[in-house]
Amino acid sequence: MKCVAIKEVKKFEITDIPEPTIKEGRVLINVQKSGICGSDIHYWVNGEPKGLVMGHEFCGTVIDPGNRDDLKVRDRVTALPISPCGKCEACESGNPQYCAVTWNNAVGLSLENSGALAPKLSVRSDMVVKIPDNMSDEEGAMVEPTAVGFHAVRLADIKVGDKVLVIGGGIIGLVSAMFAKKEGASLVALSETNSARGEKSVSLNVADEWYDAKDSNTVPTLLEKTHGGFDVVIECVGNAAAVNSSFTLVKQGGKVVLVGVSTDAVNIYSVMAVMKELTVQGAIAYTKEEFRKCVDLIASKQIDVRKFVDDIVSLEGVQASYERLTSGVDSAVKILVDPNK
Ligand SMILES: NC(=O)c1ccc[n+]([C@@H]2O[C@H](COP(=O)([O-])OP(=O)(O)OC[C@H]3O[C@@H](n4cnc5c(N)ncnc54)[C@H](O)[C@@H]3O)[C@@H](O)[C@H]2O)c1
Ligand SMILES: [Zn+2]
Ligand SMILES: [Zn+2]
Repeated sequence: MKCVAIKEVKKFEITDIPEPTIKEGRVLINVQKSGICGSDIHYWVNGEPKGLVMGHEFCGTVIDPGNRDDLKVRDRVTALPISPCGKCEACESGNPQYCAVTWNNAVGLSLENSGALAPKLSVRSDMVVKIPDNMSDEEGAMVEPTAVGFHAVRLADIKVGDKVLVIGGGIIGLVSAMFAKKEGASLVALSETNSARGEKSVSLNVADEWYDAKDSNTVPTLLEKTHGGFDVVIECVGNAAAVNSSFTLVKQGGKVVLVGVSTDAVNIYSVMAVMKELTVQGAIAYTKEEFRKCVDLIASKQIDVRKFVDDIVSLEGVQASYERLTSGVDSAVKILVDPNK
């Protein structure tokens, strides 16, 4: 079957891989929509691993439910792409996101398990989650990134009236800002280097205000506005500039949640965390319960994630979409791929 695979630095190729067949403990899925994630961009930028078929945010219809007696052919589903062992302490405590092997065979993030940039895929049956009929395919593909922001904001432990800064207005930043507001933050500010994305965070009504991270006035303005710093900063970029701004812009005794990922070492001024007695909280992925809650929140229209989708492209449109998402000037945040288009 046709698929999109990493060829080299910033280059994909359209190639052929064998169609997946049903195996024990797996569900076979016909992909309807697959999202492009900021983490996928790191792989594309590095051009590694070659041959990787990405796509870990997806929804589709069941071709073969395997051992899932509660599923039937054509049921609409999404799935957690992670691959936890199910036996270790993390797994047993309901935290598969930090099981030591959870990323080794992750769907669309490992060569062992190709992802949804192909018309069909095979997924561990215990990770498959049914989606209701009133949820669109676009919304189904948005469950995964929504769950990342949901988890981060839960860990942020925002109190009603808190002032919250989100650094980075990609999908993870936008979803985090949306949930921060739902938690009762009195101010949700967002900082961005891409002004089109910054403006969008406000026009989509997820941030109250946005600030240009490249403007040297931003830090003094925000410190003055918040009388010394935000109660909580959610860092959704991953580079040194963003991590250090989170330390600068949080108040003494405040909390920084690090969600952004970097494949390189990041130079941080740890003394800021020492002097301000900060709580620095990492956030990775989500639990199964959080993933399911995001399905319910979207299905019950408590949150609108359809508004974040900018475009839907075919497999042929994937290369251009990655270039668009990394241009630094385009307002597009989430591009979905329809591998059957
Ligand atoms: N922890 C997790 O579980 C998890 C899950 C998914 C994604 N991520 C990571 O979170 C990050 C965000 O993901 P995304 O999909 O939103 O990515 P994205 O690339 O779409 O968004 C990142 C945004 O940060 C902006 N930016 C860059 N430098 C900045 C700076 N100094 N200050 C403010 N903004 C800046 C960019 O313009 C861009 O809009 C990525 O690093 C991704 O790998 C983490
Ligand atoms: Zn992702
Ligand atoms: Zn485990």
